[in-house]
Order: sequence, then C-alpha cells, then structure tokens
Amino acid sequence: MTIFRNGANSSISLIFYLISCCVILNFCRFCEIVEAGNNPNYRDALAKSILFFQGQRSGRLPPSPAQQITWRANSGLLDGQPAHVDLTGGYYDAGDNVKFNFPMAFTTTMLSWGAMEYAGKLGPQLPETRAAIRWATDYLLKCAGATPGKLYVGVGDPNADHRCWIRPEDMDSSNPARSVYSVSPSNPGSDVAGETAAALAAASIVFRKVDAPYARLLLKTARNVMQFALNYRGSYSDSLGSAVCPFYCSYSGYTDELLWGAAWLFRATNDVYYVNVVRSLGSNDGTDIFSWDNKYAGARVLLARRNLVDKNKTFEDFRQRAEEFMCRILPNSPSSTTQYTAGGLMWKLGQSNLQYVTSITFLLTTYSKYMATSKNSFYCGNQLQVTHRTLRSLAKKQVDYILGENPMKMSYMVGYGANYPQRIHHRGSSLPSLRVRPQPFGCEAGFQPFYYTPNPNPNILTGAVVGGPNQNDFYSDDRTDFSHSEPATYINAAIVGPLAFFAS
Ligand SMILES: *[C@@H]1O[C@H](CO)[C@@H](O)[C@H](O)[C@H]1NC(C)=O
Repeated sequence: MTIFRNGANSSISLIFYLISCCVILNFCRFCEIVEAGNNPNYRDALAKSILFFQGQRSGRLPPSPAQQITWRANSGLLDGQPAHVDLTGGYYDAGDNVKFNFPMAFTTTMLSWGAMEYAGKLGPQLPETRAAIRWATDYLLKCAGATPGKLYVGVGDPNADHRCWIRPEDMDSSNPARSVYSVSPSNPGSDVAGETAAALAAASIVFRKVDAPYARLLLKTARNVMQFALNYRGSYSDSLGSAVCPFYCSYSGYTDELLWGAAWLFRATNDVYYVNVVRSLGSNDGTDIFSWDNKYAGARVLLARRNLVDKNKTFEDFRQRAEEFMCRILPNSPSSTTQYTAGGLMWKLGQSNLQYVTSITFLLTTYSKYMATSKNSFYCGNQLQVTHRTLRSLAKKQVDYILGENPMKMSYMVGYGANYPQRIHHRGSSLPSLRVRPQPFGCEAGFQPFYYTPNPNPNILTGAVVGGPNQNDFYSDDRTDFSHSEPATYINAAIVGPLAFFAS
C-alpha cells in the first residue's frame, strides 16, 4: 500500500477513480469505503475522549466495570480534612495530583455545553458524558455547600505537589501537603466563583430531564455562588497568590467569568435579572482566544444563540460580537489575528496549544450549528462570506489534524490510531500501577526510574489529548517537555462536542 504514501496526488487520483466507479456502477459500498478511508473514526475518538476523565478521577472510585481505567484506584480520601470538611472527589487537572477548581469548573461547563448542544449526536456516549460531568459537580457542590460563607476552590498545595513524582494513590495528607484553599467575602474570587456558577448552571440543564431534584440543587447552588461572585468582587489570584499562580492565575481578570456565569444562569433560568447583569458588564474587548482563563468569546456565542436560534432581536449585538470573533479566527479573513502552522493547525500559544484549538473548535462547530438553524451568513470585510459550512470546514480540519491528518502522521489522542504519544507528562500514567507495584512511592522516588526514562509509559491514559506539536508541526514525545506532552481535562472537555458533531 505504499501508493498511499507517495504523496497527495496518487491518493487523490485513486479517490477520483473510486468515486467515478461509484457513479458508474452505483456501487455504494465502494463510496462508504472511500469515505471511511478519508475520515478519522470520530465515534471511536469520541468514546475515548470521554473515557479519559476516568483516569483523572480523585476520590473513591466505583468498582469495575463502572471504572474502566483499571490502573487507577482510590486517592485523596482525606481531602478537606485540614478544614474539617469532606472535599473528596473531583478531578486532577492534568498530569499532576492537584484539584484546581478554576479549570475544573471550566472543564465541567464545556462538557455540559457539549452534552446539551450535541445530546442527540452523542448517542450511547450521552450517559457517559453525564457521568463525567457528575463526577465534577458532586465535588463542586461540596465545595460550595460545606461551610457557609466560603467557597472551596482547590485541594493540594501545587508547589509541594510539583516537587513530587508520585501516583495519586500514594498521597497521604502530608506529603505532598493536601492544603485546602477557599474564597470568602473578605478574600473574594469572582473569577473562580463565576466559573463555578457557570458549571453548576450548565450542568443543571443537562440533568433537568434525567434527575430533576439534582438539577434543582445544581441550579439553586449556581444562583448562590453567582451572587457571591457579584457581591464580593475581586480576583482569586490576589486572594490566594502562589497557591494558584502561576498555575491557574486569572490573567484575564474576572469580568469575563461574571459575563460567562451570568450568561449560563440566563440560559438555565431565563431570568431577565441575569441579562441585566450581562448588560452591566459591557461587551467590547476584541478577544481572539477562548480558554480556561478567558471566556468572553464563549459568552458571546452563547448569548448570540438568543438571536440566531430564538430570534430575539435584543441579542443582535451579541451575534455581531460573535461574528467579529469568528473573523479574528478564520484564516482568510481581513481581520484575522490567528496564525496557522504549515500543516494547517491553529496556532495560539506555545504552552499547550491544543487547549486553544479544542476550545475554539467547540465555538466553531457550535456557531456553525446555530447558523445552520437560522440560515444566517455574514461577511468578514467585503470579500469573505462566511456560512455555517465555512466554520464547519475549519473545525473539521482542526479535529482531523488532532486525530492524525498532520505532517507527523500522528494522533495527538492517546490510544487512538496507530501512532500516538507514548511518553505523556502524567504521573499516574508513567508510574507502575498499584497492581504491579503495591508498595508506595516516596515523593521523589518516581523521578529517576520513571520520569526521566525514555521508555514508554506503562499505563495507557486512553483518550487523553496532549498539549500537542510545536509551531513547526513537530512533536518530540518527551515526558519532560510538559508544554507539549501533558494532557489536561479542559483540552478534552472541549473536544467532546466537536467529535460528537462529526461522528453523526
Ligand atoms: C427577548 O429577550 C428579552 C430579555 O433580554 C425579553 O425580555 C424579551 O421578552 C425577549 N423577546 C422575545 C420576543 O422573546
């Protein structure tokens, strides 16, 4: 089959030949083979992208088969103890063993957005997605409800954690320290509270039809947390300092989270109060990014839906803001501020670039869906007319790149395709599991034999999307190069929706 590797021309002519055969012979199984050969297996990637979250679980795990990633076991069972509260559960954010609520809440919001927007397309993966959301919301509810007047926003001292290379299962309460962090009226955190409110409100929509009492609890808590974010304004980066910075510092400030939180509460409640909040925050920032830190673009797309899908004219300005955002992303737009690699990958920032690709791709597919519903199109400048197909095609290019259509011919999702990252920057994946080595590792004991080794990781973190290639489309598959080889919950959370979109 070397003919396929001889360059684009031979495979294109082969495809043309096969398509002609299809037309001439009307032999449709042939067409299916051609299609299957061209497209990645989105269904497989979708199932894996959700399975990944099981590998990030903290707390007491259910027995298998509910827990399919079997090299993981219970961990962080004393989380919350320093504050005499139960803060077990939730997710480790990436390749370390810390529970950072700011990115965890964003992860939850994006998973929930995917679950509601693509509910029909998720098919058998819808219950799995709900389970992934609930693993986070059960924990976030504890964080919001454990102590009146406080919102817990993280467990685990990140500086201490980063000095160790150990399995989550080996952590006790002191090494590395499982410190507990919170915000309160005297130490506010409108960013982390706004995002937590967004997550709880979005999740309440997901659970409305399947578990109404749970949905009501989520929504009631979301309202309270949002009120706290609005009443006591301030950034958690100021309140908590080195416990959250530079890891998940709120660089973009907290106005975007207030906007995002209010937009989600409006979506969940239809309460005009939240529209007034949105209006009071202003709306012109010229953003060209979307991430766990910066949510302006997401809020605009969400609010533009009121105009596009619900036909409410009072939201026209949000449609315009959303279109401006798309024009900053599209490669041929005169107002584009977005770079692309030679291989066609959207290029934003060197530190885990794929997180921006998946988050922005979510906005592309979702806005494409809204535009298709409303038969809307718009212009970037005088020349470029943008239809739902324009956005869909850019989104497809990004998803396909991640799944292997790239110069390295490699999938950036672990366990998907024939060639994928083997040395991800992830403690649990890179250390022998409890089953293989029951004795605990000390804090630093994992570095020499397992972190610095060129050997592949022993445990497959199925579905994990890594930080990705560099600006030259090159990937070194090096465990110590965390900017490229580390997976994160928010990279995956944003790709679930687009994978569902293309899988159907
Ligand atoms: C449009 O949205 C506003 C809230 O901003 C609401 O008051 C109004 O009733 C809506 N109009 C329609 C036609 O639904």
